[in-house]
Amino acid sequence: MKTKIKTLQEKLDLAYLGGGEKRIEKQHQKKKLTARERILYLLDEGSFEEIGALVTHRTKDFGMEDQKFYGDGVVTGYGTINGRLVYVFAQDFTVFGGSLSETHAEKICKVMDMALNVGAPMIGLNDSGGARIQEGVRSLGGYADIFYRNVQASGVIPQISAIMGPCAGGAVYSPAMTDFTMMVQDTSYMFVTGPNVVKTVTNEEITSEELGGASTHSTKSGVAHTVSANDVECLEDLKKLLSYIPQNNKEKPEALEYTLGEEIREELMDIVPDNANKPYDIKAVIEGIIDHDSFYEIHKDYAENIIVGFARLGGKSIGIVANNPMFLAGVLDVNSSKKAARFVRFCDCFNIPLLVLEDVPGFLPGTDQEWNGIIVNGAKLLYAFSEATVPRVTVITRKAYGGAYDVMNSKHIGSDMNYAWPSAEIAVMGAKGAAEIIFKNEIAKADDKQAKWLEKEAEYAELFANPYSAAERGFIDEVILPNQTRKKLIKAFAMLENKKVNKPDRKHGNIPL
Ligand code: COA
Repeated sequence: MKTKIKTLQEKLDLAYLGGGEKRIEKQHQKKKLTARERILYLLDEGSFEEIGALVTHRTKDFGMEDQKFYGDGVVTGYGTINGRLVYVFAQDFTVFGGSLSETHAEKICKVMDMALNVGAPMIGLNDSGGARIQEGVRSLGGYADIFYRNVQASGVIPQISAIMGPCAGGAVYSPAMTDFTMMVQDTSYMFVTGPNVVKTVTNEEITSEELGGASTHSTKSGVAHTVSANDVECLEDLKKLLSYIPQNNKEKPEALEYTLGEEIREELMDIVPDNANKPYDIKAVIEGIIDHDSFYEIHKDYAENIIVGFARLGGKSIGIVANNPMFLAGVLDVNSSKKAARFVRFCDCFNIPLLVLEDVPGFLPGTDQEWNGIIVNGAKLLYAFSEATVPRVTVITRKAYGGAYDVMNSKHIGSDMNYAWPSAEIAVMGAKGAAEIIFKNEIAKADDKQAKWLEKEAEYAELFANPYSAAERGFIDEVILPNQTRKKLIKAFAMLENKKVNKPDRKHGNIPL
């Protein structure tokens, strides 16, 4: 028995070493943790149980028979994060550059299947040179096996991808189909084709970082939902993100204990300026409403005219969608519509109630927007809100103009409670533009055109630049003082806690894509 135990220990020691000390050293020199270090940091101490540590590849071509490493470039298993079960895979760049072989893919699929059957989050830590070149189509088949599972698990269990090194070629499509893609500044990149291919095909000279680094994907493409400064911060961010999300689509997110108090927040009274054209900090409004320091922003640097993120309200997890008057006056455009629609759908999948803070002057006009499909992209957000069955509450802080009023979780598309502050202006458009159109002839005939225009603008503003016309029709449930907002929302979400909506029987809707 002693020799047998020794043999086992020797094999496990080899598995723990991955591609060997030299390659581990190289990984550290790049300021990256190894796959095992990442898992140990992510999971509760002592909770990790590895599955398949002794798996090796089956390739005989290109002398691969003599190059075998236990684990085959990916560490897989399960453990807990703050006591909650999660499944995890971490690609090991020290073994064949973390490249994906047939067996590497089988290991990932095995834990994905378990995660789906048990109903627990699936976390992927990606650090890979892509398809194992020596394996050809077997490796490509492995990717497709993973993609298929990503889709089967979508909306059933949360799937989170952290990109902590290269992620290129077909490899990018697994993270893209998970719920969140987190990237690490300077050490991670994602692209379908790398700089060399780009140079050959389009003659563009570009670095990996410019083409697909964390900054690019968090600002230009929106592929990355969050960016962290280094591996450790990324894993901390991942744990935080998970804290707002339930285990699966049948459960609710974990609530922290909370006793309702006075809940008056006076700081909300002075945030919205008297001048409707002046911007203000919607994040101050968010902070003024939620439990202190509980906001976790998603897509922070992408389409900043809309803000989305998770927070806690009276200890419970909510998703927030807020127009941002500081950026493009908070208009809806192609990117902000896509960003918000994706977030709304995630919250709806996983029973996270939605709070919408509305100050929207309309859709962004222009050829750029029209030619890039603002019609179909704006429709995504409209569709996402309309189909969402989680508790939905809107607070109109200022502008709610035009079609954007309908889109931003209006009563008409199924919102449960709609509040407005006294500063709300619910109208087809701003008073100035409206006066110019409907009183065009009168203004043209007037001796003093400017004076007439101002007079008509005031007339229109008097009628519509307020929340009362909408409140009279019941489109707004209550006009509330800003300092009451937090209390009203805590009570409204508690009232909606057991909301149930019967949906018509259908295979699935056909969201505009
Ligand atoms: N298949 C097999 N082995 C791979 C691999 C792949 N796709 N990608 C990397 N490797 C191996 C390398 O041969 C090297 O092996 P070694 O340690 O025995 O020398 C090791 O992984 C590390 O790669 P290296 O190129 O030294 O690392 P790097 O940090 O300088 O570069 C990449 C990383 C990802 C940019 C580079 O390895 C690369 O371009 N890989 C191929 C990417 C690709 O085209 N993939 C297929 C399309 S999906």
